Amino acid sequence: MPDSSFSTPPQKVLVTGAAGFIGSRVCALLHEQGYAVTGLDSFNDAYDVRLKDWRWAQLEKRPGLELHRLDLGDVAGLTSLFEKQASGGSAPFDAVINLAARAGVRASVEFPAVYVEANVSGSLNLLEMCRKFGVKKFVLASTSSLYGKEHPTPYREDMNTDHQLSPYAATKKAAEAMAYTYHFLHGLDISVLRYFTVYGPAGRPDMTPLRFTQRIREGRKITVFGDGSQSRDFTYVDDIARGTIAALLPVGYDIFNLGSDQPLKLSEVIGLIEELTGRKAQIDYRPWHPADMMATWADISKARRVLGWEPKTDFRTGLQNLVAWYEENRAWATQIDTD
Ligand SMILES: NC(=O)c1ccc[n+]([C@@H]2O[C@H](COP(=O)([O-])OP(=O)(O)OC[C@H]3O[C@@H](n4cnc5c(N)ncnc54)[C@H](O)[C@@H]3O)[C@@H](O)[C@H]2O)c1
Repeated sequence: MPDSSFSTPPQKVLVTGAAGFIGSRVCALLHEQGYAVTGLDSFNDAYDVRLKDWRWAQLEKRPGLELHRLDLGDVAGLTSLFEKQASGGSAPFDAVINLAARAGVRASVEFPAVYVEANVSGSLNLLEMCRKFGVKKFVLASTSSLYGKEHPTPYREDMNTDHQLSPYAATKKAAEAMAYTYHFLHGLDISVLRYFTVYGPAGRPDMTPLRFTQRIREGRKITVFGDGSQSRDFTYVDDIARGTIAALLPVGYDIFNLGSDQPLKLSEVIGLIEELTGRKAQIDYRPWHPADMMATWADISKARRVLGWEPKTDFRTGLQNLVAWYEENRAWATQIDTD
């Protein structure tokens, strides 16, 4: 088996999903830390593209940060990007951080095939590029949704993850398995990151923090599945971006939970949005969705120990930042499709 160890920290990093919520923050932070950053994104219309345009525009202001509109399904396009970056004989990138994916649980029940294409085939295409072009380090975004519903909280990385509740989670499990195979056969050094409900400014409109902030602020109804007692380990996007960069260190193949370790009930989140926006929520309660998990909570002792990572932003501060971002961008953010 090839030796996967490397001694110098990665300097040239490719980030996929760069117009995405987490990817754009990872690109920005890498750039601030002096990395040579290349970002790519397909700009799919899984949700309102204006958010992707806004995040991309922030990245475009950063000198030297290279951006490409490219789909992970476009093998010829990926090959030419890797070839171009490899000119001079060195590896095109020291590391690839794969954040591009179809995300979201409920939509995956309706459109499973697009999830397989982006999350499984897309990850495979990138792993192949890394193998062919000698990229040694691969970071894969995975999800707390993998834990299903059979475990007591908090979730540890060594718990069984054989029973996914949604096509989304199943595709992430498949990508983890494929990544392991590339580590085993080809010596790629791989960090798998299981993120727990990420929130923050310019977040995803299919997730409750932005969706509820917009709707409560504008006096529109919000829908709650179940009674609001479901809980999530809400984790601030900048903490996630720091953890993702920390995961560039060599680990062989390892899996890390990145969560806040401070789960909150949805009803508590709604209460805080009401307080910060000064508006009362109008709530339409609907039956529980079977693909949803009742609770998520990360055991983050491994990320603390191995990556030296610690979440720093408490939920009130993070939500204040999101609400402030919404107010600053309200001229267009009122129109973001949050249905
Ligand atoms: N946000 C969360 O709470 C959360 C939780 C767990 C895991 N994750 C994972 O983290 C990663 C980033 O999530 P996010 O919340 O930023 O989602 P996002 O949808 O905002 O970002 C993903 C980006 O990938 C791009 N993309 C999708 N398919 C692509 C393809 N085939 N080729 C190129 N680009 C493509 C999209 O256009 C989008 O901009 C995803 O892998 C997601 O599954 C997110």
